[in-house]
Amino acid sequence: MTQSGANPVVGLEIGGKHRKFDIDNPDLPGWVEDHALASGGYPYDHKMDKEKYEKHLERLQIELVKVQFWLQNSGKRLMALFEGRDAAGKGGTISSLRAYLNPRSARIVALSKPTEIEATQWYFQRYVKHFPSAGEIVLFDRSWYNRAVVEPVMGFCTEDQYRNFMRAVPHFEEMIVDEGIYFFKFWLDIGQEMQLKRFHDRRHDPLKMWKLSPMDIAALNKWEDYTEKRDRMLEETHSDRAPWTVVLANDKRRAHLNIMRQILLSLDYEGKDADAIGEIDNKILGFGKTSVK
Ligand code: ADP
Ligand code: AMP
Ligand code: MLT
Repeated sequence: MTQSGANPVVGLEIGGKHRKFDIDNPDLPGWVEDHALASGGYPYDHKMDKEKYEKHLERLQIELVKVQFWLQNSGKRLMALFEGRDAAGKGGTISSLRAYLNPRSARIVALSKPTEIEATQWYFQRYVKHFPSAGEIVLFDRSWYNRAVVEPVMGFCTEDQYRNFMRAVPHFEEMIVDEGIYFFKFWLDIGQEMQLKRFHDRRHDPLKMWKLSPMDIAALNKWEDYTEKRDRMLEETHSDRAPWTVVLANDKRRAHLNIMRQILLSLDYEGKDADAIGEIDNKILGFGKTSVK
């Protein structure tokens, strides 16, 4: 079922050991299962428990509803983009943020690869089209940062295009912030075994199968290339005005809660309830390049 037809068995160097990973084998190897949560230096050895998560989540979602009213009443605009390796949990994070918002003014933008015509346009053009109007929240599931990571890793852009993008993006984002748009950038970081576990789950769960793309299979061999591009992105495109919030995301629950907190704590909305927001877990959430291993 590897649509790409690529050999699904890959040899990997993980934690100083040579491993073979066969995504088509329904049995998840012990070395993946046992190390998934701890992979990449994750600071917890248990997922947050479900009841505790749901209790915090509900209070945070109520705060997000207040934010939506506040934006609508004041005509302000908010935009957040979500980046990360394949299976980092971008889609799930965005759904939990949007769950109780009015979908008419809280839009998700998940663009597919550029069309032939789009490929002839200014690179940022097709994204700008989706920017928020007064009162709107726009959540980008992937973004222009495709050109900082996926595209160069997979060979979808030229070196010149990559270089030009990296030079242009700080100016582009400066304009967004100058416009008065509240702007957030989240990098969801996962460990290698966690990525393998999630790919494996997708491959063998009929409800998740659609999420596994040929690109994911291709990414299996490109962990280091992604790491290098991630690091350079975090170094060169992180600024005071458009900072990268890095979220350790092996545990989706902790990731969701802390991302919501980060957004809520940055805004001065009506009816803000500090107790409902709670405190950011600094082991999970950090800023810029120093937060990744
Ligand atoms: P996702 O992980 O977002 O579900 P994929 O892993 O299949 O989707 O693709 C990752 C990203 O690469 C997507 O944003 C997709 O649009 C982009 N992409 C795929 N093919 C190309 C291409 N030929 N040129 C540019 N971008 C591409
Ligand atoms: P609390 O005592 O509820 O404030 O939680 C203290 C810390 O323990 C927090 O950082 C939680 O994320 C963490 N924690 C809570 N529940 C669990 C759990 N089930 N497993 C692991 N860590 C947890
Ligand atoms: C994610 O899990 O990060 C996205 O929802 C989809 C993907 O990476 O394939």
